Amino acid sequence: MRINKYIAHAGVASRRKAETLIKQGLVTINGKRVTELATLVKSGDVVEVEGSPIYNEEKVYYLLNKPRGVISSVSDEKGRQTVIDLLPDVKQRIYPVGRLDWDTSGLLLLTNDGDFTDKMIHPRNEIDKVYLARVKGIATKENLRPLTRGVSIDGKKTKPARYNIIKVEPDKNRSVVELTIHEGRNHQVKKMFESVGLLVDKLSRTQFGTLDLSGLRPGEARRLTKKEVSQLHNLAVTKKK
Ligand code: URA
Repeated sequence: MRINKYIAHAGVASRRKAETLIKQGLVTINGKRVTELATLVKSGDVVEVEGSPIYNEEKVYYLLNKPRGVISSVSDEKGRQTVIDLLPDVKQRIYPVGRLDWDTSGLLLLTNDGDFTDKMIHPRNEIDKVYLARVKGIATKENLRPLTRGVSIDGKKTKPARYNIIKVEPDKNRSVVELTIHEGRNHQVKKMFESVGLLVDKLSRTQFGTLDLSGLRPGEARRLTKKEVSQLHNLAVTKKK
């Protein structure tokens, strides 16, 4: 494999950034500096970037049913529980594909495959993410309609979303609504509901593309099958304009 691809595959940098690192003389193979982009890496070679060895691990993909109260990052400076703590037996350096808020539960993918991650979270690929939200207030077609056209959050319009009113409880002044979006902006679902006057008080992601949480209790994870990974890749490809 060519050296720039090898570095990108290891998840250290994008392919373009890898080229820059090579040209800057920051990459060595078996202790010898490489500046030629076409240099090939053979099995057993030790590649170092800025003095640290990098490893090309097997690519792995996990689906986690994230419980509420866990952080979607690899580490936390305050020592709070992270999603990585829920997968103690995984040897590869995996990280979450996008994020779910600390108080959001549900379907989260984790991998060490950077190209896969980019594909899954890029809004251009229009992979559906389905959320179930319990909101304060009474959801009606009228107040939810703006979500189907796009609402402005943080000065930028959201892409059209789909909703389904699951339950309305007038006595408790609350409703349950399913929302399907294919973007992943910060607190997007909460902000979208807020923009139509409904405050989210419980949120869960129930589907991601072709995947759902069948058979997984909160806190449980499983590996994706090869078929599931390729279905997700295909979904992103067919949706590409
Ligand atoms: N939208 C949110 O507001 N929170 C999440 O965790 C995910 C989507």
